[in-house]
Amino acid sequence: MINKIKNLLRNYYRNTYFLSFLLLKPKPNKNWGFNEYSNSHLKKEGKEYHKKFFCFEGRSILWELEKKILLDFIEYKKNNSHLDFAAGSGRIAILLREFFKVQYLLDISSSMLDGKEEKLKNSKIIIEDFRKTNSLSEKKFDLITAFRFFPNAEPVLRQKAMKFISDHIKDKGYIIFNNHKNFWSIPFLMSRLLFLSDGFGMTHKEIINLLKKNNLRLIEYYSTGLFTAKERSKIIPWKIIRILENLFFKIFKGKHKFGYNVIYIIGKNHD
Ligand SMILES: C[S@@+](CC[C@H](N)C(=O)[O-])C[C@H]1O[C@@H](n2cnc3c(N)ncnc32)[C@H](O)[C@@H]1O
Repeated sequence: MINKIKNLLRNYYRNTYFLSFLLLKPKPNKNWGFNEYSNSHLKKEGKEYHKKFFCFEGRSILWELEKKILLDFIEYKKNNSHLDFAAGSGRIAILLREFFKVQYLLDISSSMLDGKEEKLKNSKIIIEDFRKTNSLSEKKFDLITAFRFFPNAEPVLRQKAMKFISDHIKDKGYIIFNNHKNFWSIPFLMSRLLFLSDGFGMTHKEIINLLKKNNLRLIEYYSTGLFTAKERSKIIPWKIIRILENLFFKIFKGKHKFGYNVIYIIGKNHD
């Protein structure tokens, strides 16, 4: 018990930036304990990562909404080719597999995909750093997805990633990515006011700047995660949070910027 309390306090002091309530924009570079974000998943087990979307209550509520948004979008589009950028455990690629003739997954970490190869046996898997790969040099896709990447990445890596994605999307193609650390969302703002924040995240403005630099156009966004950014706290009444998240999504259709997980639908050279 005493050790548990000690650990809680140690983590609190390690992860909290006490002046974060004064911040008008996110702190720029998170210290990943590695040299850079791209090294952060090299040894991570994909199986453990994948499980969190089903076992962590908060994460599973948002994953259900992400699935709905993705499937509603895909249903009405002409789909030939899909690239899942920073595919990780293949969560997004597996969901969308059946809708595409050709599907590629790109990730720097082989351990992240561990165990999912069978479900993706008809997809092409490239384990390479996107900054160094030549495997996709001439290829362009109708859809590129990039989930849980941008707000984690350092600002320079974000720019390189958006340029890479923009170079590999066909004219009139679509990009769907998320910002699951929306700095001005209600849960992130509350955590700063309650001295529980590390001061990191990404703003809507930063997203728009990335798009502008690459001549990409914001078509739509869906904001989810209004009530808490916690994922597995034992004291949160998750059944009620699930009902509320779904209810608010039904009423507002995600057309606000207060949720901490925002899904962006982007177009290239759409009229
Ligand atoms: C948080 S995971 C997201 C996985 C998946 N997109 C999802 O939403 O479940 C971020 C992924 O980005 C990958 N990544 C980071 N830097 C990369 C790079 N330079 N090139 C390719 N993949 C990279 C990591 O290996 C990791 O699997």
